[in-house]
Amino acid sequence: MLQDKITQYTSEVSAFTTNNADELEQFRIRFLGTKGIIKDLFDAFKAVSPEEKRTLGKVLNEFKQLAEAKYAELKDSSSAVDTGKSADMDLTLPGEGFELGTRHPLALVRREIVEIFNKLGFVVAEGPEIEDDWHNFSALNFPEEHPARDMQDTFFIRKAKPGEDDGKGDIALRTHTSSVQVRMMESGKPPFRAIMPGRVYRNEAISARAHCFFHQVEGLYVDENVSFADLKQTLFYFVQELYGEGTKVRFRPSYFPFTEPSAEMDISCTICKGDGCQMCKQSGWVEILGCGMVDPNVLENCGIDSNKYSGFAFGMGIERIANLKFEIKDLRLFSENDVRFLKQYKSALI
Ligand code: DAH
Repeated sequence: MLQDKITQYTSEVSAFTTNNADELEQFRIRFLGTKGIIKDLFDAFKAVSPEEKRTLGKVLNEFKQLAEAKYAELKDSSSAVDTGKSADMDLTLPGEGFELGTRHPLALVRREIVEIFNKLGFVVAEGPEIEDDWHNFSALNFPEEHPARDMQDTFFIRKAKPGEDDGKGDIALRTHTSSVQVRMMESGKPPFRAIMPGRVYRNEAISARAHCFFHQVEGLYVDENVSFADLKQTLFYFVQELYGEGTKVRFRPSYFPFTEPSAEMDISCTICKGDGCQMCKQSGWVEILGCGMVDPNVLENCGIDSNKYSGFAFGMGIERIANLKFEIKDLRLFSENDVRFLKQYKSALI
């Protein structure tokens, strides 16, 4: 009985052929599957008499090998057949295409600022985002009790312990890029002419108008006989390049610990051209940066002779410049990575 079945299946397997993957899978399940014919035959084999077992065992094993070999052979050739399907592909069809990314609006604005200052001979410098108190505050002439050092503004990483301190004080996330000025002046000799873009951090609640991190570009120019007139002309040129000729500027006296005298610079509102709108709060002017003549104390803190050298510095927020350029009203958009927002800045592709 068992012998007959094996003979019958042997001829079936020997005759079987296909180049269809589904049919081949059916074959595998029918003969080689865990509930397949071969399994059944082996189960039935257990019940036969010991004499029969001797002959039938061999026949059964040969049948199993035959089925396995058949499956392997057809599988090899059918995978060749499957890849052969590419012969049916229409190679003249258009490709699927892929979407090009766009540059982030802040990266675009930073690049534009850098390019303008490059034309005036300013080089780009960078510094660490994790700073010590010396570079972020003390060297920049911040008084010991200055509110900017306060926990409310600064993300401290490590409070300096007396005795263990390396002399540079607390470690914090830098609150402004002015720290890079100090690093630059400490590590070189005048003249310095550099702009320093980077990310800065402040402990502020996130809203449409404030964020706990944002970006600044710092500028520094130190040489012999640098005057406030140089500062004004440099920034005037910058504004004409960035917002177009005819953009007006005005300087208002201000205070920063690291500059004396200090000023804030306004430009005529780029959106209403000075007529008054929401962006400029109907004043026709918008503030874009802080600036001034580098305080002699700062030069001396960095090892530069303040009798021989003078300089100017300025600092601006890149988000603010981008807001005016692209009329973006919510600061949070810059860090949310919503592609519907980001992909509007197609000029990035150039
Ligand atoms: N560091 C200032 C800030 O974060 C900006 C600034 C003002 C930088 C005046 C300067 C400067 O270099 O001269 O608000």
